[in-house]
Amino acid sequence: MRFVTLKDLLPEAKKSHYAIGQFNINSFQWIEAILRAAEQQKSPVILASSDRIVDYLGGFKLITAITQKMIEEMKITVPVALHLDHGFTVERCKEAIDAGYSSVMYDGSKLPLEENIIKTREVVDYAKKYNASVEAEIGSVGGTEDGVTSGIKYADPNECYQLVEATNIDVLAAALGSVHGPYQGEPQLALDLMKEISDHLKDTPLSLHGGSGIPEHQIIKTIECGHAKINVNTECNQAWARTIYEILTNNQNLYSPPDILKPGMDAIEKVVIEKIQLFNSSNKA
Ligand code: 13P
Repeated sequence: MRFVTLKDLLPEAKKSHYAIGQFNINSFQWIEAILRAAEQQKSPVILASSDRIVDYLGGFKLITAITQKMIEEMKITVPVALHLDHGFTVERCKEAIDAGYSSVMYDGSKLPLEENIIKTREVVDYAKKYNASVEAEIGSVGGTEDGVTSGIKYADPNECYQLVEATNIDVLAAALGSVHGPYQGEPQLALDLMKEISDHLKDTPLSLHGGSGIPEHQIIKTIECGHAKINVNTECNQAWARTIYEILTNNQNLYSPPDILKPGMDAIEKVVIEKIQLFNSSNKA
């Protein structure tokens, strides 16, 4: 089965007011748990590796090959996109595409707008040859991801429009108050700005980073305001860690890996199912 792109998934989701979950992988067991959940829910799914975790997992080619083989072995029928999350450089995005990723995010959000545009356009030009999709970012998602901490910087709508027009990206991550990792108190999402940007961009869908820990009523609002892709990492990791911690604390003589790790996978699967239902992408495959 070929991976689908975000172009195949998100415009329809935006039009019909649901969102596709991007679930980040942290080991190959995450892939299995996420695929199981998506297949059970008959939902399209985006599997993502953040750039920082790629080498830890063995490189782009290994991730691509294992994901493809798992899809085959597990007889997965739902559409699956393989996406690079927060690509550090143009070269890393090209490497991911060369290895078979169907989608990449080039994160030039810390650069001056002109430089972000030039580099994002280079990624888009390359991706076009392989029919891969491209996401880019304006503003700054707060919090910590893979050890890197940033403050929240709300996206400037004009910069969003300039980036989309100049690069023709397929999806825009406009940082509007979300945070990677746990939130301190209720998230302060700029919903009005979200709607304004989404309406102006018409067919270009928005991508919500930091999708863990946002109350359900706010998630529903972000979808109404044009988000067709919602990224979840922390909640899966927390559920996995909590489960394994509990098992090992309560059974200190346990050492058989399947007895320890299988419940961890089940915990990830449960979170993914809940998110798919919340994002309303069940039965959209
Ligand atoms: P969380 O870890 O907060 O769920 O965010 C995931 C994310 O946005 C990945 O880019």
